[in-house]
Amino acid sequence: MEQSDHTTMDSKELKGKRVLVTGGTKGGMGEAIVKRLAKAGATVITTARTTPDELKESKLFIQADISTPEGTAKIVEYVLEQFGGVDILVNNVGGSSTPTGGVLLQSDEDWQRTFDTNLFAAVRLDRGLLPPMLKQGNGVILHITSIQRRFPGENTMAYSAAKAALGNYSKALATELAPKGIRVNSVAPGFTETKAAERLIERMAQERGCDYKDARKILMDSLGGIPIGRTARPEEIAELVAFLVSDRASYIVGAEHTIDGGIVRTI
Ligand SMILES: NC(=O)c1ccc[n+]([C@@H]2O[C@H](COP(=O)([O-])OP(=O)(O)OC[C@H]3O[C@@H](n4cnc5c(N)ncnc54)[C@H](OP(=O)(O)O)[C@@H]3O)[C@@H](O)[C@H]2O)c1
Repeated sequence: MEQSDHTTMDSKELKGKRVLVTGGTKGGMGEAIVKRLAKAGATVITTARTTPDELKESKLFIQADISTPEGTAKIVEYVLEQFGGVDILVNNVGGSSTPTGGVLLQSDEDWQRTFDTNLFAAVRLDRGLLPPMLKQGNGVILHITSIQRRFPGENTMAYSAAKAALGNYSKALATELAPKGIRVNSVAPGFTETKAAERLIERMAQERGCDYKDARKILMDSLGGIPIGRTARPEEIAELVAFLVSDRASYIVGAEHTIDGGIVRTI
């Protein structure tokens, strides 16, 4: 389907805002969010484990493995030193790299790595970057969870549990910080065909001895199909994020926003 941009975008909406989006490379949601918020006028800093060539000299890129305390400490230190903090923090990094195909294949290390990446990275970054937000009395924090938070994936059990914990933590944080001028919310995407999602399908294909198309079908079937008839584009998730971090969403606090083309059928 032809992609069209129906958005009326205000290129000054986020002017003067310092933003950190984790995982803003490799063409996924993170990169789409970086581009969308930069188009709205924000100064957007991003992170990843590998440094893309075009960001080698950039003051707006931090190389760090977010799944370790050292990685998040490096990000916090750099942001505080170079920018004095951020006004908007989008915790985007997450994902599943554990073996698919059942509970007995999941080791302690798999569970730990999954929680480190999907939960503790956000907890540590929020804690590290909150002091200047609290001092200025305003800020926005977003957590990218997943529909798997309440619709556990057969092939991604540890990931679903970690995202459930992230959603729960996000709600508690929102309640604590709202009286202090900081809005916390979460976004729960459905199936978005990013490079990271493609890697999951490739792994499933390898582990099941089938091809990519069949593995993709297994994944789609496990979701019960997508009522809207297609997977999401990263830009569609970025559009929701752009709204939630802006003042247009000034009364939205502690809410999870599902964006899944209708996959989750329950209310
Ligand atoms: N794709 C989906 O269908 C889907 C559905 C629901 C929820 N989500 C959630 O949405 C978020 C974005 O997912 P996405 O698929 O669009 O991925 P993405 O934004 O493309 O994320 C990949 C980015 O994260 C970085 N990254 C990965 N692991 C990292 C680590 N340990 N430390 C630092 N950076 C790391 C990658 O760079 P390096 O590899 O160089 O580190 C890359 O920049 C995730 O939280 C995911 O769980 C995705």
